[in-house]
Amino acid sequence: MHQHSSLSRLNEKLSRVSQNLRKSATLPPQCYADESIIEVELARLFDQSWISVGRTDRWTSSGSYSTLNIGTTPIIIIRNNDNDLKAFANSCRHRGSTLLQGDGDCKKIRCPFHCWTYDLNGKLIFTPRMECDENFQHSDYPLIEFRLDTSDGFLFINMDGSAPDLTSWLGDFSKTMLPWDMRSLASTRVREFDVDCNWKTFIEVFNEYYHLPYVHPSSLNWLYPEPDGTDDVEGNFTSQFGETNGNAGLLPEDQNHALPSAPQLKGRELNGTRYTWVYPNLTFATAPDTMWMYETFPIAANKTRIIQTICFPKQSVEADDFETKAQHYYNRFDEALAEDIPFLEQQQKGLSSKYAQQGQFSVLEPSVANFAYWYANKVKDLI
Ligand code: FES
Ligand SMILES: [Fe+2]
Repeated sequence: MHQHSSLSRLNEKLSRVSQNLRKSATLPPQCYADESIIEVELARLFDQSWISVGRTDRWTSSGSYSTLNIGTTPIIIIRNNDNDLKAFANSCRHRGSTLLQGDGDCKKIRCPFHCWTYDLNGKLIFTPRMECDENFQHSDYPLIEFRLDTSDGFLFINMDGSAPDLTSWLGDFSKTMLPWDMRSLASTRVREFDVDCNWKTFIEVFNEYYHLPYVHPSSLNWLYPEPDGTDDVEGNFTSQFGETNGNAGLLPEDQNHALPSAPQLKGRELNGTRYTWVYPNLTFATAPDTMWMYETFPIAANKTRIIQTICFPKQSVEADDFETKAQHYYNRFDEALAEDIPFLEQQQKGLSSKYAQQGQFSVLEPSVANFAYWYANKVKDLI
């Protein structure tokens, strides 16, 4: 861990991140490169916040599960026989093996090591050759369960149980997203991949318009004229609306493949896109006809597991030509990623230099600055 003097230097740097964008420093490069910072972020920030772990429609029926790691904590998300979602530590109560891998469907959760078996509520129900000990009770060994809650179709987990209830944590979030009727969206593609960058920079670039002319000159840049400022909101998120040229979910040359807009939208919402970052690890954009989102899970300071989910209004998904048209949207999202990722990897190399220093935000990075201010306050109090 840091010595006292370097910690106080870091705190001093964090205090240069200001609520006033026009005089705010960026986060100190160490926050993106030091493994000791990742430890602080995981132990305090990821444990204590509500962490986004997917859209609730990812798990379609009883026994449908997926696994993920939040830092070094392996987790199972599974739908039980009452159709409720559950989150368990993916650690066997016998001698600790992980229980499930990847995603799939199961009737019971059976440990591959010595066959201890749990039901979909995490109750231990079968243990071979343990009958010799009369004090041994299955009820003493359930899976460790985490707190889960949902908002607007998103599933959130709070591992240490200390976060305020999800509604107060999110504040104005549901109100801000109301026009898009987020719960009615259907997920049509989920993809996981790793990027050699910090978990924060991946979300930052998604939430700023500053890089568009330089990183996406012939793809996205035309779509996005200068946006509104960020909304003035309460809660652990930042959000920014901007009108678009045509449809932001499609490349300029694919504009004639648009799916219909969600029927309830009106006014400027029909002609723009809202970019939102729910702290710490969820970001998404809502256009009139699609929603695309990314969740980031740190693997190391310079490596991040990304989960991408793409959603459409239910009416669109049910239409005959949906698959053909959706392909054009998927191409647009993949192309934007392919353009961003080399820059994120270059940024990571520069940030990792011992000579890297804090910079200053531009007026086109207000959501990034809002996050930096939130983060600086969280981390300053904790280290
Ligand atoms: S570690 Fe799971 S049954 Fe032994
Ligand atoms: Fe980008």
